[in-house]
Amino acid sequence: MRAEFEAVRRWLAEAERVAVLTGAGISHESGVPVFRGQDGLWRQYRPEDLATPQAFARDPRLVWEWYNWRRSVVARAQPNPGHRALVELEERTRDFTLVTQNVDGLHERAGSRRLLKLHGDLWTLRCLDCGRESVDRAVPLPELPPRCACGGLLRPGVVWFGEPLPEEVLRQALEAAGRAQVFLVVGTSAVVQPAASLPLLARRAGARVVELNLEETPLTGQVDASFLGKSGELLPRLVEAAVRS
Ligand code: APR
Repeated sequence: MRAEFEAVRRWLAEAERVAVLTGAGISHESGVPVFRGQDGLWRQYRPEDLATPQAFARDPRLVWEWYNWRRSVVARAQPNPGHRALVELEERTRDFTLVTQNVDGLHERAGSRRLLKLHGDLWTLRCLDCGRESVDRAVPLPELPPRCACGGLLRPGVVWFGEPLPEEVLRQALEAAGRAQVFLVVGTSAVVQPAASLPLLARRAGARVVELNLEETPLTGQVDASFLGKSGELLPRLVEAAVRS
């Protein structure tokens, strides 16, 4: 572990181009539930009942009750040392890109700027009729389902299963992965595409890929270094060592 940590410290210290992919695991220590694993959301609810366009068309109120609950949980959460370590790394790296699958907004609240949100954002609402997007941080939302000024139904500004990712965001994420010298993968089960392909694309393009996760994932056997542990503990140690050197 020590030798591997030292190697990664050196890679990060020497890198000018760094990209990071985060998943729900980085927010777990902030009290935000993950999706898979023993206490994951998908153990209590069926994704197809809550996180698909069909589910929303079938019962917009039910879907909004779930998102209202998720918004209330996230509103009480604070960024943790893992989020803050990535802000430190961003400030010390010339070409830094943080790609997140998370919709909780904790990276922005921690101070991340060069951030690409692959799966949208819990706080954004989009009108099904006029397409207008707005940010509404009310917790709880006063009326479910919320309505647009035009009278149309508002949906959460998140990417549901079966929906395309925002094109420009994905293009920039692919570009960042293709030019990274070091690619960190933090707190993701690496099973949802196309996000899960970014680390492998980075590796094929010559990056050193480093995984930080509580447990092994389908990526673990294909990365240059893998650390098992909490991102809120591992990231600060790794970034501190890299920026100090
Ligand atoms: N530190 C590091 N890793 C952690 C921690 C922690 N404290 N807690 C949990 N993890 C890891 C788990 O081991 C797991 O590998 O975080 C990962 C969480 O995986 P998922 O719950 O599948 O979340 P994620 O990978 O972000 O899901 C991807 O699936 O449901 C869709 O759109 C949703 O963006 C989400 C996507």
